[in-house]
Amino acid sequence: MLIAQISDLHCREAQSSTLLGVDINRNIASAVARLNGLSPRPDLVIATGDLTGGGKPDQYAALDALLAPLELPLYLLPGNHDEREAFLAAFAGRYGVEDRDADFMQTVIDTGPLRLVALDTIHPGHHNGGIPDERLACLDDTLAAAADAPTLIYMHHPPFRTGIWWMDRLGILDGLSGLADVLGRHDQIVGMVAGHLHRTIHATFAGVPVTVAPTTCYAVDLDIHDEAAPKVTAEPPGFMLHWWQADTLVSHTLFLDGHQVEDVTALMHNWPARLERMREHLPVPKALGAIE
Ligand SMILES: [Fe+2]
Ligand SMILES: [Fe+2]
Repeated sequence: MLIAQISDLHCREAQSSTLLGVDINRNIASAVARLNGLSPRPDLVIATGDLTGGGKPDQYAALDALLAPLELPLYLLPGNHDEREAFLAAFAGRYGVEDRDADFMQTVIDTGPLRLVALDTIHPGHHNGGIPDERLACLDDTLAAAADAPTLIYMHHPPFRTGIWWMDRLGILDGLSGLADVLGRHDQIVGMVAGHLHRTIHATFAGVPVTVAPTTCYAVDLDIHDEAAPKVTAEPPGFMLHWWQADTLVSHTLFLDGHQVEDVTALMHNWPARLERMREHLPVPKALGAIE
């Protein structure tokens, strides 16, 4: 099972899509084109929050138009830059968004061998995150309902500190000990994936591996000095592919800008013989998406 993750799209109004030197909406279009062109095709795409820059109806309208050409199942989760009311007005009933007056997202994706459960970390009116008891209880119940199903939790704010202090101040400030308690009661969780930090980061939380996807817009600079000024950097925008194979989750980072690919077989001494030896040790792999 192959899961694509895009994050922190920060979509802007169609007529003013550039910020900090990045044509943000053009990058979203590039991401959609890259996802459509992937081979093998991902089974589904999750978008882990900050779908828009400011949660405005015009931004959701622009995002809706940019996402329309996507040919893969898509599941949306809002982030701190989103506004729940405008988000629901734009997408309720589509892209895995509850068709109701939801106080928080409870999406469960049960379409493949890896179960995906959304954890809504939004603290309305604030950029920092939080996980109230009601959401922890919901997560607990959702996990208990399928205790034997390998499960990936996806969320916007990651549950750990990075050392980038201004982003850590915008992290999950309430509910982390309760989240650790919930995770400790369920042993089918293979990992958690998040966004929000605008750069690729790997960590553990309560013994669970956590991967943070890069953004499709501008990256946050890595500066772990105390009180370092908030900075962005021109590191390349990207997205992730999570490959679930039997009992292992492998996470790959891809970049939006196309890079030239060279077949170097001709540079490898006696490749046909080496290929035969390699086949003895490793079966010829099936297409990634065909492996479950
Ligand atoms: Fe963001
Ligand atoms: Fe965020």
